[in-house]
Amino acid sequence: MDQEAIESFRAQARLYKHIFNYVSSMSLKCAVQLGIPDAIHNHGEPITLSELVSALGIDPTKASFTYRLMRVLVHAGFFSTTKVNKGEEKEAYVLTPFSKILVKEKINCLSPFVVGMLCPAMMMPWQFLSDWMQGTKKSPFETANGKPFWDYMDHDPVFKALFHDAMRSDSQMMNLVVKDCEQVFEGLNSLVDVGGSTGTIARVISEAYPQLKCTVFDLPHVVANLPTTGNLNFVGGDLFQHIPSADAILMKLVLHAFGDEECIKILKKCREAIPTQGEKGKVIIIDIVINVEKDEHELTEAKLFFDMLMMVEVSGRERTEQDWQKLFMA
Ligand SMILES: C[S@@+](CC[C@H](N)C(=O)[O-])C[C@H]1O[C@@H](n2cnc3c(N)ncnc32)[C@H](O)[C@@H]1O
Repeated sequence: MDQEAIESFRAQARLYKHIFNYVSSMSLKCAVQLGIPDAIHNHGEPITLSELVSALGIDPTKASFTYRLMRVLVHAGFFSTTKVNKGEEKEAYVLTPFSKILVKEKINCLSPFVVGMLCPAMMMPWQFLSDWMQGTKKSPFETANGKPFWDYMDHDPVFKALFHDAMRSDSQMMNLVVKDCEQVFEGLNSLVDVGGSTGTIARVISEAYPQLKCTVFDLPHVVANLPTTGNLNFVGGDLFQHIPSADAILMKLVLHAFGDEECIKILKKCREAIPTQGEKGKVIIIDIVINVEKDEHELTEAKLFFDMLMMVEVSGRERTEQDWQKLFMA
């Protein structure tokens, strides 16, 4: 084979890998839906294929398919294999750092994020991205699902539950850091978590700082029927209209879901909601910052994927430090 042919075949393999990248994410979703990370974790030791099939309640006639699913997931690094001796030497599966954060009993379990982000309503809009680029007025999400993202959620209870469960699991990760952020919360008497979903992060904060009165502010259909507990309460409303007053406003992964003009409007509403004199009066933003120079390649890739996700689903964007500065100075 000449050099050009070798290069073409290599390029073909790489291209096919990218074309079929969804196989990796959809196989992962399948593993989560089957409960594979939990089954391996609960087994307490490396689990063989037949033990896994039995633990999952899968019909033994499907064992060879389970083997193929596990093979691609091991190849992707979600699980790994080791040898065990059960009369004869066999291959057995173990969790890797990737799948350890998919185990349900772990506080930082991201399984709901896998299922929510890969549900049909989130996947279908990608089919309409090029149409939108070429001039279709409606966003890809609206073309695919009939309504803009936040309106659609009010009309599809299954999607709403999947999405907010995904957000809940992402916010649970904050458990790992909130207690170390005393300097952020000290001196504050009240805090409003704007776009706070069903209150996971506000609950973490309210438990870590019991003196702080925490309010979760989100769309009325999101917070309807969520009960006040201790120093945590819920208020429904529209962040473009009015944000309840507090010493501090928190927004986690809210501004990235909106374009620059909308963000400026939201930040102005935040300004109106906080005191303008003294120590208090701050807006705490937890969001993505693209930093191609500083971040590892994989982290940048994840952030750029989020950027595309925001474009396709909600007309938002991820921002560099300079982009954020421009917003704050506007
Ligand atoms: C990407 S989610 C982030 C949720 C949460 N902060 C978290 O990180 O888990 C954005 C949130 O903003 C809320 N939201 C969107 N538009 C809103 C509006 N106009 N007024 C109030 N909340 C809104 C959504 O319901 C959703 O809970």
